[in-house]
Amino acid sequence: MRAAVRRHPGRRGARMERMDPMKTGLRHRVKRAVRQMSDQHRNIRAIHRSIRDALQRGGVNDARAAFDRLQNAMDAHFALEDEVFFPALHGLRPEFADSLEALSHEHADFAVVLRGLGADLEASGVESFQIGFEAYARSLAAHEVREEEIVATLVESIVSNG
Ligand SMILES: [Fe+2]
Ligand SMILES: [Fe+2]
Repeated sequence: MRAAVRRHPGRRGARMERMDPMKTGLRHRVKRAVRQMSDQHRNIRAIHRSIRDALQRGGVNDARAAFDRLQNAMDAHFALEDEVFFPALHGLRPEFADSLEALSHEHADFAVVLRGLGADLEASGVESFQIGFEAYARSLAAHEVREEEIVATLVESIVSNG
């Protein structure tokens, strides 16, 4: 009897030990990815400021260099979200599939807009670039706010419910 009582919790305990490190590891990775995503959002906003500052002082070459940095940063950012972060979140919370897919579609649209803006700047179409750039920056800011809200809700549900 004593042996049976000990063995039963023992088996359950072993099962819990196998699951818990996995869950803990997953939560840890999700939290780290959230931090990385927010850091990248901040970095992108800083590059936007560099582009505006360069154009304000007539430094078109500096603006082009900053715009190249922006394109690289955006490529890396979309790759993190589309290829790593969103699939992980989708795996944990399939009910968020539509929201995450909508955000990914917007990434594809932003990539097209950025290519067009780059062509404007290369062709010294600074005025046309500035108008397009401000419209893009507003859309991206709205996207990021929505993205951080969705991700916060999702992560909250993962962290509180396991
Ligand atoms: Fe995004
Ligand atoms: Fe983002």
